[in-house]
Parts: sequence; structure tokens; C-alpha cells
Amino acid sequence: MKRVWVMRPFHDEAIYNSLKQKFEVDTWDDHKTPPHDVVMQKAKECDAFLPEGIDIIDAEVLDGATRLEVIGNRAVGTDNVDIPAATRNGILLTNTPGVLQDACADMTFALLLDAARQVAYGDRSIRAGKWVFFDQTPYLGLDAYGKTLGIFGFGGIGQKVAKRARGFDMRVIYHSRSRKIDLEESMGVEWAPTLADLLQQSDYVSLHCPLTDETRKMMGAEQFAMMKSTAIFINMARGGVVDQPALYEALNNKTIARAAIDVTDPEPIPMSDPLLTLDNVVITPHVGSASEATFKNMGLMAVRNITAALTGGAPETPVNPEALQNR
Ligand code: GLV
Repeated sequence: MKRVWVMRPFHDEAIYNSLKQKFEVDTWDDHKTPPHDVVMQKAKECDAFLPEGIDIIDAEVLDGATRLEVIGNRAVGTDNVDIPAATRNGILLTNTPGVLQDACADMTFALLLDAARQVAYGDRSIRAGKWVFFDQTPYLGLDAYGKTLGIFGFGGIGQKVAKRARGFDMRVIYHSRSRKIDLEESMGVEWAPTLADLLQQSDYVSLHCPLTDETRKMMGAEQFAMMKSTAIFINMARGGVVDQPALYEALNNKTIARAAIDVTDPEPIPMSDPLLTLDNVVITPHVGSASEATFKNMGLMAVRNITAALTGGAPETPVNPEALQNR
């Protein structure tokens, strides 16, 4: 019987039931990412992995993977896997695009509005006993309506964010690997020819790009300096896209006004990270897609992909279909 390694204990019954009908299921019973030596060993013992998007599956694991056929990432991001190494070893990688777009866009707006109107800051102040008379002045917010939102990365998630922003009467500009002229008219969004244009024009900058060699540490001191001093920076992409010490400096020196980030580098963020000393940043624990329904739908999609790959079917969302030629 084919063997599937589920790399976290928290998947619900729907996921286990559908896997267990066809496969032997082995589960990592720790909420922390499995250590590298365990991942190495499991790649020799299992036909499929069901990882979270932060579980590192590197070239050493993949080059030594004598049994592994498919990695069904429960994430749209695939930066946790060395894709060239998977491909040369004939190991198929799948991900979960589509199903998470609305949940991620909702969360982006939760962060955008939180940073704009200081929701978490107000809550922290009350709990710290600081609401002792009526004074709104420490909590004065920035408007969203009428302001410019700059979206970097105009794939499925970026487009859903744009749709919400238009509903909030925001002007939307975007920069992406490819220009999408058809969407500019239908969605009422405008193209920013460069990242610099996007940063200079925007009141809110929101990242929705994958972490790749081109985007790694793309936002550094130089880029924060291009932003308006009143601007809010939102990161729903990956912590690695940002030079985190530079973000701290930009917030601490008020080069930019505020930030709201769902992802950090590393994750979890260490309690000693200086970002945690600042009041003008709100940080959430990488939960962009994590509505109850979307969490489950992503798991089920990963299961469908694994099931298809192990039973001779066609997975819905292969990332490196060319791997099959190297079997
Ligand atoms: C979450 O970060 C994902 O890539 O799905």
C-alpha cells in the first residue's frame, strides 16, 4: 500500500478519512516543523508528503528520496521546496492555488484597516489600562477611501484585493511580472511600470508575490525610502521578500507610517525581534488563508492532488509537471 506522510497533527477528519480510504497514513505528531533528519528518512519510507508551506524540503532530502513520488503542499507558495531538485528526481510538486484567494484578500483588508485605524493598538491600550478618559487623539487613523493602494503581484490574490479596494473607493495601481491590460479596464485598476512608481504613488503598499530569487529581500532601506512618510506597508506574501531590519528602521525612524505583516523572517518571529517593540506595526502569525473553510479546502485539495498522483490520475494543480519525464 502507498504511504502518505502528513507533516502536521492538525488536519481534520475529512482529510484523514479521504486519505485513509486508499493509503497508509503516517502523521508527524508535533506542531513544530519536522527536523531535517526526519524529513530525510521519511522521503525513503513514504510515497507522498503533505507538508505545510513552511516545511523545508531541500535538495539533500530530494536527492536522497528513494521512495517519494509526490509532495502535495497545503499552500499556494512553494518556496519551501527546491523545485529543480524535485524535478530532476522525478518528484511531482502540487500546491493549492485558487481556493485561498478570497480568504487571503479578506485578511489583507483586515490588516489594511487595522493598520489604518489602529484596531489592535486600541485594544492593547485598553488592556494595558490606558483608557482612563475620552481622548481620541492617540488613536487617530488614516482613511482608506479615496487613497491609492499599490498592489505588488497581480495574480489571483492580488486581483481579489483589488476588487475589495475598489469597493472601498480606493484607487488601485499594480505592478506584476506581466501587465494585464484586459483587467485594467474591467477592474478599474492602473499599471505602475516599475516597483519605484508603485512605491512613490501609493498610500498603502500590499505585497502578493511569491518568494523567488527575484523577490528575495526586494523591500529594503532604499525601497522604504521611496514610500510616502504617511504610507502603510502590508505584507501578505512571505517574510523573505522583506529586509526585516530595514523595515524596523523605516518604522522606527518614521520613514513610513505603519506596517501590517502576516509573515516574518524567520517564522515564528523571535520575541527578541525589535519589531515587537514598536507600536506602529501589527503582526499576525501567518494566517492569511486561515479561515476555517479555506483551511479545510486547502487540505482537501492537497489530498486530491496526492491521490491523483499516486493512483495514475492527473493532479489538479501540478507545479512541475515536467518532473514526470524524469521518472
Ligand atoms: C500560505 O502562505 C500559502 O502559501 O498558501
